[in-house]
Amino acid sequence: MAENETIFTWGAPPLKFGPGASDEIGFDMSGYGVKRVLILTDQGVSASGVAHRIADSLTRYDITSEIFDGVHIEPTDDSMHKATEYARAQGPWDGFIAVGGGSAIDTAKAVNLLTSQAGELMEYINKPIGGGKAPTGPLKPLIAVPTTAGTGSESTAMCVMDVLSMKVKTGISHWRLRPTMAVVDPLLTMTLPPEVTASSGMDIVCHALESYTARWYSDYPPKAAENRVTYCGSNPVSDLWSERALQLIAQSFRRAVSDGGEDVEARANMMMAATFAGMGFGNAGVHIPHANAYPIAGMVRDYRPAGYPQDEPMVPHGQSVSLTAPEAFRFTFSAAPDRCIRAAALLDPGLDRPNDDQEYLPRALVRLMRDIDIPNGLGAVGYTEQDVPGLVPGTMKQQRLLSTCPREVHEEDIEAILRRSITNW
Ligand SMILES: NC(=O)c1ccc[n+]([C@@H]2O[C@H](COP(=O)([O-])OP(=O)(O)OC[C@H]3O[C@@H](n4cnc5c(N)ncnc54)[C@H](O)[C@@H]3O)[C@@H](O)[C@H]2O)c1
Ligand SMILES: [Zn+2]
Repeated sequence: MAENETIFTWGAPPLKFGPGASDEIGFDMSGYGVKRVLILTDQGVSASGVAHRIADSLTRYDITSEIFDGVHIEPTDDSMHKATEYARAQGPWDGFIAVGGGSAIDTAKAVNLLTSQAGELMEYINKPIGGGKAPTGPLKPLIAVPTTAGTGSESTAMCVMDVLSMKVKTGISHWRLRPTMAVVDPLLTMTLPPEVTASSGMDIVCHALESYTARWYSDYPPKAAENRVTYCGSNPVSDLWSERALQLIAQSFRRAVSDGGEDVEARANMMMAATFAGMGFGNAGVHIPHANAYPIAGMVRDYRPAGYPQDEPMVPHGQSVSLTAPEAFRFTFSAAPDRCIRAAALLDPGLDRPNDDQEYLPRALVRLMRDIDIPNGLGAVGYTEQDVPGLVPGTMKQQRLLSTCPREVHEEDIEAILRRSITNW
């Protein structure tokens, strides 16, 4: 047997992309032979009327539907349980439609799993937090309709949630969770508040950068067919999507934040960037910034960001992934210097290359984060140096992500990265 892996895998659902794409969902759903569909969304998205428009388009193809608008922003085990209970009580359903950001799409993935297969949420959650059970049969058709430009969840094979009792974010990762079809309509993002545009856009940036700098697929030991994982490391196909996502970000991110209500071209480019980065990271994987994001979000005390629901404290996913990104890329620089230099040039073509190449990507990131009003480091979302030792174990638990890091990473490395990220500029 070879000493190194020789195989990579890549997957994504069929995609329908463009302004007006969401008007055709009735036709698309009818192709799967379904008669009764549950539409899952959150109250903020529901207020825009998009879920009702989709329900109307289903009616034209003789498909009945109900709307569940109880999705929790940044879902928890508890909120996914409630959504599942609702779906089980009102079911059976022949298919599902998720309308919203990553919160709605991830909730729909879990509901689809738990109403199509036997078992409860905790059994399927990744080890060591859950049982790591794999679904044994097919799930029902799920059409994912993102209304944020960010997570790329419409094309990925995982769903993420906060396990409240353990104060830790984790997820379920299996190829069967991947939506059956992604319908990406940039017009749905015109109503996004600038703060959500900025935060979810930083999620795209981190997806693209982390997957582009992830450990190369053949730098792993070989795996048997039954042990292949969703995140196989950076590879020639994921690279294409990640690079292109960075170029689109460079063209349009600042405009989408400052003029998002009018600038359809910027919104379309951001939507394309999110989709492309999803196709990249969803196969290659993410590493330190995302691993750090889990405890940063999970251990929040009283930070309530503008633009998001104010009923409970939260660090939105896009903020939590970006706050340690400049330091994380300083740390990983030596493992793949050429990739970091290329990524910086794609992300910020107007930035002069500094004498010290290690500073190039962190500088491009900080310049962007300042321009779009991302909080200045962990301190700005309520953490102090004293909190750092408490955050480290939450990161170290994310071994699935840390194994994608191009450099071996130890507790003391994470501690140093977190400490240096209390302020970023
Ligand atoms: N499964 C994956 O591959 C994956 C990847 C990254 C992140 N995630 C998860 O996704 C979640 C974050 O998702 P998100 O950043 O897309 O945001 P979100 O779904 O949490 O929504 C954020 C806010 O924006 C509002 N909103 C959404 N669309 C809107 C619109 N068009 N107009 C007005 N308001 C709108 C929502 O009501 C909410 O208040 C996190 O739980 C994160 O962990 C999943
Ligand atoms: Zn993410």
